[in-house]
Amino acid sequence: MSRRRLVYEGKAKILYEGPEPGTLIQYFKDDATAGNGEKHAIIDGKGVLNNRICEHVMGALNGMGVPTHFIKRLNMREQLIRACEIIPLEVVVRNVAAGSMAKRLGIEEGEPLPRPIVEYYFKDDKLGDPMVTEEHIVAFNWATQADLDDMVAIALRVNDFMSGMFLGAGLKLIDFKIEMGRIFDGDFQRIILADEISPDSCRLWDLKTNQKFDKDVFRRDLGSLIEAYSEVARRLGIMQENTAAPASGPKLVS
Ligand code: TMP
Repeated sequence: MSRRRLVYEGKAKILYEGPEPGTLIQYFKDDATAGNGEKHAIIDGKGVLNNRICEHVMGALNGMGVPTHFIKRLNMREQLIRACEIIPLEVVVRNVAAGSMAKRLGIEEGEPLPRPIVEYYFKDDKLGDPMVTEEHIVAFNWATQADLDDMVAIALRVNDFMSGMFLGAGLKLIDFKIEMGRIFDGDFQRIILADEISPDSCRLWDLKTNQKFDKDVFRRDLGSLIEAYSEVARRLGIMQENTAAPASGPKLVS
């Protein structure tokens, strides 16, 4: 097997050099982390599920004209993507109070928000990804005001589309995190959706029971992450009804 050049390794994914200039291969690992890496486990099959769910969502977004880095899924764990210059921000869109927002503002988890709220976090593990405002972003030149306008427009389109898609699968999209990047076409620059969209980066609750089907299952020790993600895949019509989740449980690393 020819060895590929590793471009970047993160907590849950690896990027390898792609087959053509301007492309990369995104590999989904089985690692699950929470609390900025404080909790870490290897969960057999998570990468495979996230690769499939991400393909489903990004492919649909491409189809409706939201620009993304996704080109095609290559195999169980890998997808071909366009290389882009990652903007060092996590963009979070919230429909319902949960997680850090519920804690920070003293709102009960599950309280619907009056409108979708967009937040920004500066991507820096050493600092614990602090929340920042548009003022910081423009002043420190992480993105221009024009970039931010494009990013908010993309984030809200993704929110509208995914809220509807998950609603059709009996799931409420509580919140999610996305990352974006720049691609250059001569002098022309465009913002595209990058990274991944999966139950690792969304909160998904059952429409009727509020049961959680996302990474909070791992963060809060609520049961089997693989069963939760498999259920998301089944409800989206990606996985056959009778496809069994891998039998082994998570292996705690730290
Ligand atoms: P939060 O409530 O912890 O701020 O998370 C908001 C959303 O962003 C939630 O869907 C989980 C997602 N998220 C990530 O994907 N990666 C992260 O590092 C964090 C902190 C949140």
